[in-house]
Amino acid sequence: MKRFSQKHLLGIKNLTREDIELVFETADNFKAIINRPIKKVPSLRDVTIANIFFENSTRTRISFELAQKRLSADVINFSASSSSVSKGETLIDTVKNILSMKVDMVVMRHPAPGASLFLAKHINAQIINAGDGTHEHPTQAILDAYSIREKLGSVKGKKVVIVGDITHSRVALSNIFCLQKLGAQVMVCGPTTLIPKHITSLGVKVEHNLMKALQWCDVANMLRIQLERQEIKYFPSLREYSMLFGLDKQKLQQLNKEIVIMHPGPINRGVEITSDVADSTHSIILDQVENGVATRMAIMYLLAGNIQK
Ligand code: CP
Repeated sequence: MKRFSQKHLLGIKNLTREDIELVFETADNFKAIINRPIKKVPSLRDVTIANIFFENSTRTRISFELAQKRLSADVINFSASSSSVSKGETLIDTVKNILSMKVDMVVMRHPAPGASLFLAKHINAQIINAGDGTHEHPTQAILDAYSIREKLGSVKGKKVVIVGDITHSRVALSNIFCLQKLGAQVMVCGPTTLIPKHITSLGVKVEHNLMKALQWCDVANMLRIQLERQEIKYFPSLREYSMLFGLDKQKLQQLNKEIVIMHPGPINRGVEITSDVADSTHSIILDQVENGVATRMAIMYLLAGNIQK
């Protein structure tokens, strides 16, 4: 029987291609199950999972909770804004208190890069990184690659451009690692100010002209401009950004081919993507959200196989 190589899911960097493919195969089974009239299985019946979110989230938090409920896990939800963190409690104290209630697995989103690694080193539970600052968002990359595989048959050999705020994007970094491990070619596209200087050392192509990037790719993953992480102005105005790097129907029509459009959400409609593109038949944005549940079920199921009770 194939086993997941990791105790935790802290990032894509540490995973093997075999790990990712095992998640995909397991997710295929769970996707079939959650489309049945009875969507629940008892796979994690004795497992307690805490969802600890120190940053806002819609898709990731709901998707994890739904995946846990579909697997019959016991679920605790914790959000920093309504907790004793606001009274000065440290991350370790908060998590130790939660774990003393016999929690097996922690899903954590935190604004600090490396927060989930820090937790994994200090507490005895399985950790899933649900996004750590500008570092990694591994479950997003897995659901993105799974959605490309579903739409195009495989990821291997496909050309994927990630467009936008690469500097502040944990989605970009995890996607680069994941897509390359699966044999895709990756390009990043955006203003020079939003592309890290040494990104080519990761083996990605860089393009600052959106039309050239779209001509090259099979898939365009449009990222949100993360104004909340930008401490200085990286471009003159959202209007100018949108003219140069936003995807609209006119730009798509200038291509002599069809491409697949993705977005991790939340979307800034009219900035990185217009509504007519986001809601078009080229877009697999809602498939990505749907696949988030099956892939997260697969990840938690595989990690739970490594729990020592
Ligand atoms: N894609 C993503 O992480 O969305 P949320 O911030 O809503 O979880």
